[in-house]
Amino acid sequence: MNDTPASQLINSLIETCNISSRLDIELVIMYVLEIDKNILYRDDPSFTKTDLNRIKKLIERRENGEPLAYLTNNIGFWNLDLFINQQVLVPRPETEVLVEKVLDSFDCERRQVLDLGTGSGAIGLALAKERPDWLITCTDVSFDSLKVASINMTKNSLDVNLVNADWLNSFKTNYFDIIISNPPYIDSLDPRILSDGLLHEPRKALVSESNGLGDIKKIAKEGSKILVDKGYLFLEHGYDQSDKVVDILNKNGFSQIKTHKDLNGDDRICMGQLN
Ligand SMILES: C[S@@+](CC[C@H](N)C(=O)[O-])C[C@H]1O[C@@H](n2cnc3c(N)ncnc32)[C@H](O)[C@@H]1O
Repeated sequence: MNDTPASQLINSLIETCNISSRLDIELVIMYVLEIDKNILYRDDPSFTKTDLNRIKKLIERRENGEPLAYLTNNIGFWNLDLFINQQVLVPRPETEVLVEKVLDSFDCERRQVLDLGTGSGAIGLALAKERPDWLITCTDVSFDSLKVASINMTKNSLDVNLVNADWLNSFKTNYFDIIISNPPYIDSLDPRILSDGLLHEPRKALVSESNGLGDIKKIAKEGSKILVDKGYLFLEHGYDQSDKVVDILNKNGFSQIKTHKDLNGDDRICMGQLN
């Protein structure tokens, strides 16, 4: 055992490392020592040399901009506890707004629902928890993502269909009542791709051709065939893409189109109903 208590370690790490967030340091220590915040401050535990080395390595990764969720393999999303690794996008608070808008729009009645590009399973699994009677299919082109979604399905005792597919090309026409997607929507030349958080996330989850709108166009076009008449499409998009996404939905036969803002006040969610 190292004699230095955790509280002293936190203070010395705050002074010496390049992470401004005390919370990040606390979370790394709690993760390595497998304790919660109460125990961290009530018992002020000591730690082994091995623990200390692990803590320092994780802090170094955080200093290099890696998202905390990749270090602790965990994030809370909606009402779920999700396993996360470098194969999937770290689910964002703006995507919780997407989940909220879907839930606000429909009751519990049984529906066929599709979460396209599920990544960690965040959207589809949050909906499965809130609407147990919905028949939910979650797809991704990446097998590695589907493995993570499968872990999360088991971890949260939920049941959805996991399907490996390139957007909508393997589905029956006229089948789904609701399609939801948070697709890649960042242009490959956008400098944000090189920013700290995004740099560590899978490019396939972030970047789309045609100024970031290529995948949204495909989903709107193919989705209009897969949805039942009067079915709904919900899409997350970039803060500056709202007008273009509304136009894309219009051109693909959707009406009653509405845009919703995220928690920062940026236009972020577009929904429409197939005519
Ligand atoms: C922005 S991430 C969203 C992940 C998750 N739904 C979330 O909100 O956290 C986009 C996801 O779309 C998947 N994807 C990219 N191209 C795809 C394609 N052609 N067909 C299906 N999924 C695709 C990526 O693998 C990634 O998991």
